[in-house]
Amino acid sequence: MIKIQEQNLIKKHVKVMSMISLGIESTAHTFGVGIVDDKGRVLANESKSFFPDEGIHPREAAVHHTNHAVSVINAALDSAKIDISDVDIIAFSQGPGLSPSLKVGAVTARTLALGLKKPILGVNHCIAHIEIGRMKTKAKDPIVVYVSGGNTQIIGLSGGKYRVFGETLDIGIGNMIDKFARKVGLGNPGGPIIEKIGKKGKYIELPYSVKGMDLSFSGLLTSAVNMVEKGRKIEDVCYSLQHTSYAMVCEVAERALSHTGKKEVLLTGGVAASLMLKDMLGTMCQERKASLKAVPRDVAGDNGAMIAWQGLIEYKAGRRQKIEETEVNPKWRTDEVEIGYL
Ligand code: ATP
Ligand code: FE2
Repeated sequence: MIKIQEQNLIKKHVKVMSMISLGIESTAHTFGVGIVDDKGRVLANESKSFFPDEGIHPREAAVHHTNHAVSVINAALDSAKIDISDVDIIAFSQGPGLSPSLKVGAVTARTLALGLKKPILGVNHCIAHIEIGRMKTKAKDPIVVYVSGGNTQIIGLSGGKYRVFGETLDIGIGNMIDKFARKVGLGNPGGPIIEKIGKKGKYIELPYSVKGMDLSFSGLLTSAVNMVEKGRKIEDVCYSLQHTSYAMVCEVAERALSHTGKKEVLLTGGVAASLMLKDMLGTMCQERKASLKAVPRDVAGDNGAMIAWQGLIEYKAGRRQKIEETEVNPKWRTDEVEIGYL
């Protein structure tokens, strides 16, 4: 009898000690809900994505997210095998992203937080891509190569902020790949498709554009589409488009390592799923005696678990937010965020 009472006490204690965070991601195509605990365990990571044939229309994406919000939340609670009342904090992507999509996530988060009387925290989507990568790979102070649809940034922590050392001057590398795939009729999203087709391809020269520490992809996109229209082999163009854009990313990352003296590279964001990019960065790191750490594929793209984790670490570090402060911020930059938890 005494034993059972002791066990119950221990269980109660464990419950008090551990925190559970539910995170909502809705910056662009994906409405995601993740649930994590403070040991970094991902208890659930569910999502529904909207990939129309013709690029993304912000209002249509918002309608998609509104229609799927409840079912994705329920799927996440089911797969975590918890009740909504077990959640201790509600986190959501406050920016950057498409305003109508962001608003769906924010409204959903406010409704849950107010209804459940739980704290709410809006977090920066880009920082969440970095921190899920650091947590999963145990990277300490890396140069971050953040490559996704909308973003291409080479980042490093300095003076309490993630500074952007270099970034795209026009479109994100993932959007460039997706636009190419759509324009030549390969479908959407383009990344995994051109990766597969490019495996059989050979190198042909395409425009390579690094300006100081910044990159530009629009000339490369135009030229690659022209080559396909002129009848060049699709597998050669797919291979070379990837090779050229990834070589540009490697050059800037290498220079960032050299300037800062850091010894780790963390690859994160949706394009981090690319095996060719991982290979090329791996070779560069080996030559510089640095180590490459890549975010696992299941949390590389937009997902709720990274938002839940970001909310949890910020909450534990003492950040609090009033409901009036949860307005979305579509242009929120990586280097505006004070990193108070490191
Ligand atoms: P962000 O708001 O951070 O820019 P996002 O909306 O672009 O995010 P992510 O899920 O982070 O979304 O990234 C999606 C991108 O990743 C798409 O452009 C997709 O084509 C690309 N991608 C996915 N898999 C691969 C791959 N194997 N090779 C290259 N690109 C890939
Ligand atoms: Fe993203």
